[in-house]
Amino acid sequence: MFIYYKRVRLGALPKLALSTAKSVFGDPKALSPVSVQIEPTNYCNQKCVFCYRQNNPWRFDNKHMTFAEFKKIIDSMPDLEELLLNGYGEPLLCPDIFKMLEYASSKGIFTKTNTNMSLLTKENAKKLVETGINEVFISLDSVDPKLYEKLRGTKLELTLKGFENLLEARKKAKSNMKITLNFVVTEETIPGMKNIIDYITGKDVLVKFKSLTVTGKNAAKMMHKSVLAINEMKKYAKNKGVNVWFKMKDKSENKPFCYAIWFGSFIDVNGNMAPCCQMPYEYSFGNVLDTSLEECWNSEKFIEFRKALNSRDLSKLPKEIQNRCYNCNFCFNDQIHKLRKIVNNRP
Ligand SMILES: C[S@@+](CC[C@H](N)C(=O)[O-])C[C@H]1O[C@@H](n2cnc3c(N)ncnc32)[C@H](O)[C@@H]1O
Ligand code: SF4
Ligand code: SF4
Repeated sequence: MFIYYKRVRLGALPKLALSTAKSVFGDPKALSPVSVQIEPTNYCNQKCVFCYRQNNPWRFDNKHMTFAEFKKIIDSMPDLEELLLNGYGEPLLCPDIFKMLEYASSKGIFTKTNTNMSLLTKENAKKLVETGINEVFISLDSVDPKLYEKLRGTKLELTLKGFENLLEARKKAKSNMKITLNFVVTEETIPGMKNIIDYITGKDVLVKFKSLTVTGKNAAKMMHKSVLAINEMKKYAKNKGVNVWFKMKDKSENKPFCYAIWFGSFIDVNGNMAPCCQMPYEYSFGNVLDTSLEECWNSEKFIEFRKALNSRDLSKLPKEIQNRCYNCNFCFNDQIHKLRKIVNNRP
């Protein structure tokens, strides 16, 4: 028995979902999202060569979510414990971003966002900390000005200034907000890993190495190369007192194929619900703004999707989705422990 939800929030799940849930998670009383990602905007001010947004520009309509829409979504998830407020765009471009974070924090939700730091002026950094946010993921894949500009299309100097402003704002507010540096591991960024560790040494920042989301024939080769480089770097960082986070999904047969879909989903700027951020705009279980959260979360399509992933038979899913799931290193098996802790700690 893995997990037991204490409160039944979404009404009875259809029988199919319950039996599917039973086969993997024991006998959950009900499923209701506890950890979701919401996209507040899909406007962006950078052009990162490795980003899905950059490589599929036609899918992004440059929109901001309104506070009213955000509130509607949050209020429809009474069991929500954790919110990641960013998607394929720069969250600080969203006019209501601080209000959204503040609202979620005021409801006791563990709030997080991911920023490229280019808009972290002193004022914005202060505002961000004051929302009560728990964790800020910052993107930095190189401290070499030329490479940074090549990768992201903007000046490194501005980004580093944003980083300093964030550190200063955290210090001034005596906040225990976590800062986690997201480093995307690619052929080009691997040589600069050491420099990143040196740069953040002593700054109370966790480093998270993100293996590039790649599919196709080079995926395995690139993954192998990344893992070797990361393992090397973990030793280097340890000697410098820097904490590094890197996990690989355990794909062994006796482990559930995907945990993420049992606890939450990705909701894009238009309100479309997708299983996770790996496949927004192309695989939707419905629109939570046009219908309701329940209708999407318990839709037949979502149930069939969970069933397919539980049985490890993805053959009925669209080819692109199969590829994404097979190559996914996103839903880590240790997430279950974290989420179980969250659920067990509920009043
Ligand atoms: C999509 S961005 C959105 C937030 C913000 N625009 C930023 O760049 O920080 C979220 C994170 O995903 C990372 N990322 C972008 N493309 C990626 C890829 N192909 N594989 C893995 N991570 C990626 C970014 O570096 C960033 O840390
Ligand atoms: S800043 Fe973030 S969302 Fe924008 S292109 Fe870069 S990684 Fe993608
Ligand atoms: S891409 Fe990964 S996290 Fe998303 S649904 Fe597939 S297995 Fe789960």
